[in-house]
Amino acid sequence: MKQSEYLKILNLAKSTLEDYDNWGETEIYKTSQKPSNKTIPEKQQKIFTKKPLTSKEQLESLRKQVDNCKECSLGTTRLKAVFGHGFANADLMFIGEGPGYDEDHKGEPFIGRAGQLLTKIIEAMGKTRDTVYIANIVKCHPMIDPSNPEKRENDRPPTPLEMQVCKKYLDMQINIIQPKIIVTLGASSTKGLLNREEPISRIRGTIQEYNGVKLVPTYHPSALLRNSSLKKFVWEDMKKVMHFLNTGEI
Ligand code: URA
Repeated sequence: MKQSEYLKILNLAKSTLEDYDNWGETEIYKTSQKPSNKTIPEKQQKIFTKKPLTSKEQLESLRKQVDNCKECSLGTTRLKAVFGHGFANADLMFIGEGPGYDEDHKGEPFIGRAGQLLTKIIEAMGKTRDTVYIANIVKCHPMIDPSNPEKRENDRPPTPLEMQVCKKYLDMQINIIQPKIIVTLGASSTKGLLNREEPISRIRGTIQEYNGVKLVPTYHPSALLRNSSLKKFVWEDMKKVMHFLNTGEI
């Protein structure tokens, strides 16, 4: 290649890469790849190469996209987008339905009554909210009366269309985190991911797969608040999940 062509490519690459703030400067041609032409000034023998983003950084960048998302009407009526919480390389991921009043006000998933019960379940499994990852199938609060986010008891399940539009963010989260196992909480997230019609009472505790990741559906914690006799089933399901995480067998 002629030196002028070579410099053109080098400069083009450099100016493209300079747009990113997380590029590190690295010398090239330290090895046998060094071209024999010695006339290239030393300054120009440097290009910018990308330091791979950590999972945490990738999630933060995705969080910003979600914060600005208005792809469905939920994005225009919610107070705060609720991206997710937890360890960016968690083995275990919980996926709920969608933010409610408390989550909408704080921007954190599962912090209301159902969330506090989920936290207890997680702790009973010997884990914490910071060692697992908690997310929802939709990131914005689905409201019965979207004009009144200050009203309590204004929650509704997301529609199939809302789930379909938002699922790409969850898919990206799963792809970044790469959990060993997913627990879907309740009918919405189970149906949204598996596209199955069975009631949650029938599909709970079964071993499913989503994009190559093991998945166990269980009851939503709000169902346990309404009917505490369901708690034993959730615990049965969580024991399966723990066994898998401890042994790799299911
Ligand atoms: N219910 C959910 O499904 N998700 C939350 O974040 C809170 C309550």
